[in-house]
Amino acid sequence: MSVTTSTPQLSERILRMQESATIKMAQMARDLRAKGNDVISLSLGEPDFDTPDHIKAAAAQALNDGFTKYTPVPGLMELREAICTKFKRDNDLDFDVNQIVVSNGAKQSIANLCLTLLNDGDEVIIFAPYWVSYFEIVRLGGGVPVVLKSGIEQDFKVTPQQVADAITDRTKLVLFSSPCNPTGSVYTKEDLEAIVEVIRPHEQIHVISDEIYEYINFTGKHVSIGAMPGMRDRTITVNGFSKGFAMTGWRLGYIGAPTWIAKACAKMQGQFTSGATAFGQKAAAHALLSDMTPTYEMREAFLKRRELVKEGLGAIPGFKINNPQGAFYIFPDISAYFGTSDGTNTINNANDFAEYLLMNAHVAIVSGSAFGADNCFRLSYAASEEQLTEAIRRIAECVGKLK
Ligand SMILES: Cc1ncc(COP(=O)(O)O)c(C=O)c1O
Repeated sequence: MSVTTSTPQLSERILRMQESATIKMAQMARDLRAKGNDVISLSLGEPDFDTPDHIKAAAAQALNDGFTKYTPVPGLMELREAICTKFKRDNDLDFDVNQIVVSNGAKQSIANLCLTLLNDGDEVIIFAPYWVSYFEIVRLGGGVPVVLKSGIEQDFKVTPQQVADAITDRTKLVLFSSPCNPTGSVYTKEDLEAIVEVIRPHEQIHVISDEIYEYINFTGKHVSIGAMPGMRDRTITVNGFSKGFAMTGWRLGYIGAPTWIAKACAKMQGQFTSGATAFGQKAAAHALLSDMTPTYEMREAFLKRRELVKEGLGAIPGFKINNPQGAFYIFPDISAYFGTSDGTNTINNANDFAEYLLMNAHVAIVSGSAFGADNCFRLSYAASEEQLTEAIRRIAECVGKLK
């Protein structure tokens, strides 16, 4: 039985919650594949690479060394120290170990923060297009998402003026990712400085800066908003191992935060999940402090694929494409197809478009509506060049039938 309003025993909390659109799309693709169809799935935000061998070896070693027990709730000291070193080295951020909380994925880190910081009715400014889970996690915490839209004409980046216009007495948090999932846009140092100018005078506002795609940045050095003047005590920097180290299944994320926030998150986590997996944390500490060559090689591979999808999708009439500067997503605006039909299916919105591609091209992508952007779809290019080339061929063919 699905979770709907026809199951009244369930809490209002879960009934109000939308299912994750990316997970749902991946499941639909799996179902179609199980029926014998050759489906190319470009819907999930997961590197197609395996975790580098030296990280796996560190986990195996840790298992053999007996790291099989509960860990301290905020994380093994060794990992928290490694995270402090990483923050200083890569982000110019000074944290001590009491300001670090390791969780079962950055998703849990963000949930800890929202459950810890929000009271009912508190407003959270979310830059759209946004990562699917932000909206629901904020609502779970009782917060009110205040979504700031940005289309392709502004490179999918929210302007300082939009932020200024959205701030009220109830604004408690500003939440965004850079590099951004789903658009690949990167907020530059200048972009962030201008946003900081707007936020800084409002002392009740904290920023959650989700930097999980930090290492998949094609523009050069990553910039952390928390390192900007006046933002040190006002920013929670979220990061994790899923993307840069191809460790999605290990479930490891972390925050660097003002001490009072870190303590509260550890208290929350202590009642939910306790500390993250012991041997995984040992391997994660090793990952942060060892040779990053595998990470940079993955980034180079993503860059090559970005060129491929940019060129391929950009050549399809009516597709508007930007130049994603990071992550591994492209977010074409396909509003030119709204109102068209192949004679059987009519495309009225991005949901129709995503379903049309899945059923007719057997290519799974995700409708932009899941990310607060109704004119677009997200394609993850974390797939082989052969798969991407074939997917683009199928998309072009299918879209060519829409008149
Ligand atoms: C922007 C963003 N933040 C956080 C996460 C969650 O990462 P984790 O696997 O560490 O929970 C994702 C995963 O897709 C993401 O895209």
